[in-house]
Amino acid sequence: MKKLLVFAVAIVLVFTLAACGGGNDGGGGEAAPPPAEDSGAQTEAPPAAPPDEQEVFKVGVSMPTKSLQRWNQDGDNMKSQLEAAGYEVDLQYAGDNEVPLQVTQLEDMISGGCKVLVIAAIDGSALGSPLAQAKEAGIPVIAYDRLIMNSDAVSYYATFDNTLVGKFQGQYIVDTLDLENQDGPFNIELFTGDPGDNNCVFFFGGAMSVLQPYIDSGKLVVGSDQTTQAQCSIEQWNTEKAQARMENLISSQGYSPGGTTLAAAMSSNDSIAQGITNALIGAGYTADNFPIITGQDCDVTSMKNMLQGLQQMSIFKDTRTLAARVVTMVDSILKGGDPEVNDTATYDNGTGIIPSYLCEPVACTLANYKELLLDSEYYTEDQIQP
Ligand code: BGC
Repeated sequence: MKKLLVFAVAIVLVFTLAACGGGNDGGGGEAAPPPAEDSGAQTEAPPAAPPDEQEVFKVGVSMPTKSLQRWNQDGDNMKSQLEAAGYEVDLQYAGDNEVPLQVTQLEDMISGGCKVLVIAAIDGSALGSPLAQAKEAGIPVIAYDRLIMNSDAVSYYATFDNTLVGKFQGQYIVDTLDLENQDGPFNIELFTGDPGDNNCVFFFGGAMSVLQPYIDSGKLVVGSDQTTQAQCSIEQWNTEKAQARMENLISSQGYSPGGTTLAAAMSSNDSIAQGITNALIGAGYTADNFPIITGQDCDVTSMKNMLQGLQQMSIFKDTRTLAARVVTMVDSILKGGDPEVNDTATYDNGTGIIPSYLCEPVACTLANYKELLLDSEYYTEDQIQP
């Protein structure tokens, strides 16, 4: 039995290194089966530790919310892949983004004997107390997807390249409006996520690094004049709050199919894009005249919208790939090694640079969604049919 566990650990390691090397072709889908049966693994090197030294360690995995599709996928993937690697898993979701609940759950993980904590923080600056306890107890912390700020308890960070996500969104708008050749002016509005989510600095910053020159030249006009991250933030990435902001902008700017033209809305993710879409439909827009809307996550709802012409792009971040990378990090840490990182310059959490591994996001449109999402078995065709 122990030999079997060790063999499974080796195989998962082989898989993860391949998966985070840049491709998005992991197998599995939402209930991603660990690739333990992959034939290629049979020829790989044996694990370092002899079977006798294997212990079953418990790993705490703290996810922010059950109410957004991606975190359910992240949680499922982390649990199944860690278990396949021979670990016990304490997976907790903090209700619907409830910070005090996330704090309590982390405290329980620490007192319950978890040897490593993997945390996707609701608010990157609100976990001071459990993190101090983790540090005191010598429990390493991996920040999952979102950086945890102002704490020296954070050992590693694994995420997707968040700046690139924003740049892809901005570039999609620039290319679709052909701003290199067209003078416009084109009206645009900007939306980003929760102010407590450090990723937004990079999403919004990446998008603005592409859009700002066109705003400066007058080809793009932000009708509302709301161009700072704070002005464009949507608390908790909430769909209804995004819808309410878009409805306000529609009234104040007179955006409508027959009125002031809105060419594009830059949205940092899909839950916000969906709110914008709802507001625009309410204002009478149809697929024939729909403004460009960007997104992120390739949520099922947004893919359905995309297939109906009610959102134009999203960003595919294969949650299986990120989970696989974090499993290798956990495994290295618990074996006394140094996890592989590929970025030691970008993510300063206020106590210094946190060594990071950035997986690759991919822009997803109608042109490539089949290859990205269906061929890789992320979704079945039925799942995303409108
Ligand atoms: C994640 C996005 C997600 C957003 C809302 C961000 O931190 O990187 O993928 O859409 O949170 O949950």
